[in-house]
Amino acid sequence: MYKLLETILKNNEIYTKEGNLASYIPELSKANREDLGISVVTLDGKEYSMGVCDKPFTIQSISKVLSLLLAIMDNGRNNVFSKVGMEPTADGFNSIVNLEIKNPIKPFNPMINSGAIVTTSLIYGKDRDEKFERILDFTKKITGNPNIDYNKDVYLSEKETGDRNRALAYFMKSNNIFKENVDEVLDLYFKQCSINVTCRDIAKIGAVLANDGILPWSGERIISREVCRIVKTIMVTCGMYDASGEFAVHIGIPAKSGVGGGIMAAVPNRMGIGVFGPALDEKGNSIAGIHLLKDLSEELDLSIF
Ligand code: DON
Repeated sequence: MYKLLETILKNNEIYTKEGNLASYIPELSKANREDLGISVVTLDGKEYSMGVCDKPFTIQSISKVLSLLLAIMDNGRNNVFSKVGMEPTADGFNSIVNLEIKNPIKPFNPMINSGAIVTTSLIYGKDRDEKFERILDFTKKITGNPNIDYNKDVYLSEKETGDRNRALAYFMKSNNIFKENVDEVLDLYFKQCSINVTCRDIAKIGAVLANDGILPWSGERIISREVCRIVKTIMVTCGMYDASGEFAVHIGIPAKSGVGGGIMAAVPNRMGIGVFGPALDEKGNSIAGIHLLKDLSEELDLSIF
């Protein structure tokens, strides 16, 4: 496995030169575009990492998987999907247009920003601190990493510049999609997006989903099989936004990207994969990361289709 990862990493270094660092969250433009890493965690708990796998980056939209899991576990699937759909869109992750045209009005799916703001609003807790503690605790548990914390600079940077998300949230609130205070919901959403993870951490998230909710390293079940099935399905259809179809054809693995440059992938019954490369394509997905996953999928025949 190490030899394979080494070859794949070497062959795809060239792609770190393509695309751009996220700059709409100013703090993210400080990343090093040459960073490239891949981690694989198999279901017997073995971990194989190559390249930049211990350097923290912010989880960003990969956190949408965690908030969806928590929202379903807190509220039940029917309640969650009465407020957010499960259909892919052909628009970008922070698009506004779809919010007004669906009837009844609700975001298309929980992987785009509007949908994730809704799932975040559904997470239980007596106040915003308790809600964030629950998200953080869940992230620690699912990564097996008790040292996980959030990146305050990135959080503040997004809080200062996140007007698109504010627009989405106010529009949804005006349509009674959620009732909570917009500032509080967004504060929680920005914080969850700024949780620091490494390539190893996101590979572990993938491994737990691949293992139907059981932590491969301890045997403890933390999510039901059914909830994992729902979330992996939504990752296939919506996880890479308006590139999900192409990703399914070329790579064929449930996955979720983030503008921090990470992609978390779950190969059912086989492994979790984390890749990291901060330069993004125009859809907000890591260019080099997608190439790494494509090569690994081909080499190990990982497509689920
Ligand atoms: O809300 C935002 O725009 C960011 N915090 C997260 C977006 C993101 O990661 C899109 N993914 N590739």
